[in-house]
Amino acid sequence: MPGGKRIELCSSGDVAPGTALKVEIDDLALAVFNVDGEFFVTDDLCTHGPGSLSEGYIEDDVVECNFHNGQFNIRTGEVVSPPCMVPGKTYAVTVVDGKVTVEV
Ligand code: FES
Repeated sequence: MPGGKRIELCSSGDVAPGTALKVEIDDLALAVFNVDGEFFVTDDLCTHGPGSLSEGYIEDDVVECNFHNGQFNIRTGEVVSPPCMVPGKTYAVTVVDGKVTVEV
């Protein structure tokens, strides 16, 4: 991918299924989600305000922001439930040698 850079965020074992981990790296704040053993990465900051999605309530592949209870699909970033309106940014994840990496 031209201009793409792969960065390592954490070990896959750092994020248990059904949970998320906030990772700050370079100037990014990301949320790493483990959905049944599959990893997804989004921006940690909610698109609606100051909510941190890694601290949200996770059910299957939906995360509920702990600030105003807006919901996003973890896989796609799509809004599942308002008040958030703007989809979250997602990143292409690859697990390499047990490390969760994304292209930025
Ligand atoms: S800050 Fe996340 S729903 Fe408002």
